[in-house]
Amino acid sequence: MELDKTLRAQLDRGRRIGCIVLSGGSTLDHNIDPVADVAALRDRLVQEYGLDHRPPIHVDTVNGWVWLLFRDHDFNADPLSLDPSVIAVCERARDQIAELRHADSFAADFHKTGLCPYATSMYVCKNAAELRSLHRVDVDDGRDESFGDVHAHHMTLENSRPANGVVSAWAMLAKLGSSGLRRYVAMLMTQGLYLRDRAAQHYPEHFEVLNTHANFHATVVLLRLVSPMLDFDDLLSDDEARHMHNRLAHAFFRWLDVEQPGIAPLIGIVPRYRVERTGKPITAFLLYPMSPELDRERCDRLLEELIAGKRMFLGMYARRPAPHIAASPPPPR
Ligand SMILES: Cc1ncc(COP(=O)(O)O)c(C=O)c1O
Repeated sequence: MELDKTLRAQLDRGRRIGCIVLSGGSTLDHNIDPVADVAALRDRLVQEYGLDHRPPIHVDTVNGWVWLLFRDHDFNADPLSLDPSVIAVCERARDQIAELRHADSFAADFHKTGLCPYATSMYVCKNAAELRSLHRVDVDDGRDESFGDVHAHHMTLENSRPANGVVSAWAMLAKLGSSGLRRYVAMLMTQGLYLRDRAAQHYPEHFEVLNTHANFHATVVLLRLVSPMLDFDDLLSDDEARHMHNRLAHAFFRWLDVEQPGIAPLIGIVPRYRVERTGKPITAFLLYPMSPELDRERCDRLLEELIAGKRMFLGMYARRPAPHIAASPPPPR
């Protein structure tokens, strides 16, 4: 494991490891790191190096927390009547996130797939003493503390931070309960997988789905703007086509905003999809359903309107290429 090498390299240099932060499901690819394996590795290293501390493991589950809702859900007696493909994805993600019990802390964002306004975040720590260790014990020793050192929360409940995140999470949970939230997540997954499948199967000349295996409802597509034949991998090996594609993708996104205001809010742009892995930025688009109102008919309409928009845009671009594209700031190269 790469992490093994990295941790050993630090320990061999006499460094202390403050914390190991793992992915508990990113938005686009939703990779969930193997928490149990990392915890076993951490424990092995503590023993081997005779460490006087046990580096805590934090998992960034600000998206992936939703799979905890399915912990006791019986898909066989499923009141949600889900498609087997949706059940398969939910079960896979649920099983991966179950490893969270090996972590020391995790976080949940209720403003991500929890119907709450920004920012509604929760931090959960296994050992309450760790959390309390943030509190100092020497606050009431009469020392004269100046700005920045003052820990007012030790002295009074009065403070100037808003409680609206806490209240909105409480209201959402009280209103929907875990079964309501599960239903919402299952609906989003159904729409997301439908969009992904529909784009790939019915419109392959327009879309290449890039995050095919993501256990999440976000769909990343390459909109084929340069040629219906060019895939993501082809663009990686053809710099000229890649620059052309990126320029067109950014210009198209801006054009949608002005010319197709009905579609513009429904799609997002991903300027540098997987650039960490490929080293070459390629601009993709994001279809990220969030509304329980989005049924199959609306999903179909969205894809068709995107295709119609693309045709119109490319028609215009063919007529007056230089000024239209030149008006756009340069995309990532
Ligand atoms: C995995 C993950 N962690 C952290 C963040 C940051 O969240 P926020 O912008 O709500 O602070 C995001 C944002 O999408 C995310 O996907």
